[in-house]
Amino acid sequence: MMRQLFIALFLMMPLAAMAAGGESVPFHHETNLGNQASLQRGAKMFMNYCSGCHSLQYMRYQRISEDLEIPEEVMENNLILTRGKIHDTIQGTMSKEKAAEWFGKAPPDLTLTARERGADWIYSFLLGFYLDDSRPSGVNNVVMSNTAMPAVLAPLQGFQVLKHEEEGESEGDGHGGGHGEPQFELVQEGQLNPAEYRAAAADLTNFLVYVGEPVKLVRYSLGFKVIVFLLLFTALAYMLKKEFWRDVH
Ligand code: HEC
Repeated sequence: MMRQLFIALFLMMPLAAMAAGGESVPFHHETNLGNQASLQRGAKMFMNYCSGCHSLQYMRYQRISEDLEIPEEVMENNLILTRGKIHDTIQGTMSKEKAAEWFGKAPPDLTLTARERGADWIYSFLLGFYLDDSRPSGVNNVVMSNTAMPAVLAPLQGFQVLKHEEEGESEGDGHGGGHGEPQFELVQEGQLNPAEYRAAAADLTNFLVYVGEPVKLVRYSLGFKVIVFLLLFTALAYMLKKEFWRDVH
């Protein structure tokens, strides 16, 4: 039974890998968690443009406030756009069922996405929306084809079309990671110019990487406490045992 399960899992691995990374990730993001201003901008963007649909269920507003030195009043008055309070975790405003109904898929929690997918993936995802008539949302995405997520940042980015998907496999155009960069053409401008939009996407990516990190720290310190507790408990149990049996022998 166990063996069949392992074999099945093993056989499914390439499928999972294809599902996860079938598309190449064209853009590179240089994560910089030391850039507080970028993290603050990213937090603001997240609250304004993402928290409606996506939760960060292991992260509290207050923690962000503390880590990123955003005063709690600013957080409470300007950045908590859900029904949450400063000590709450960040829950999307939309119910999972409604979202699944509307988008065909519930927007996943994003706390650990940067750790699962990587910063480059998120950055490329945010840059990678392009017009596609065949999709219900009117857009598609180069790193997640047929994504259920609408182009929520289009007011900032504008709309672009994808020109030659296969082009530039090895050429690159001198900047960034180079290979296989898709060629986009902006057909409708947004509020930001392309460089500003890339900077905004970088801030958001930075923020999501940060969000995944403190969770790791919490886990480590919790693990340590658990081990200390177990050691103390073992010692105590041992002492008790000796105490109980002392008169018997
Ligand atoms: C209107 C609802 C909505 C908003 C607003 C929204 N998203 Fe999404 N997002 C989705 C849905 C639905 C999916 C699932 C896509 C799929 O699996 O096809 C998704 C998927 C994602 C994923 C992929 C997660 C994974 O690992 O599969 C990322 C990353 C993401 N969104 C980031 C963002 C960011 C950053 C913002 C804010 C700029 C944002 N989203 C705003 C609906 C939304």
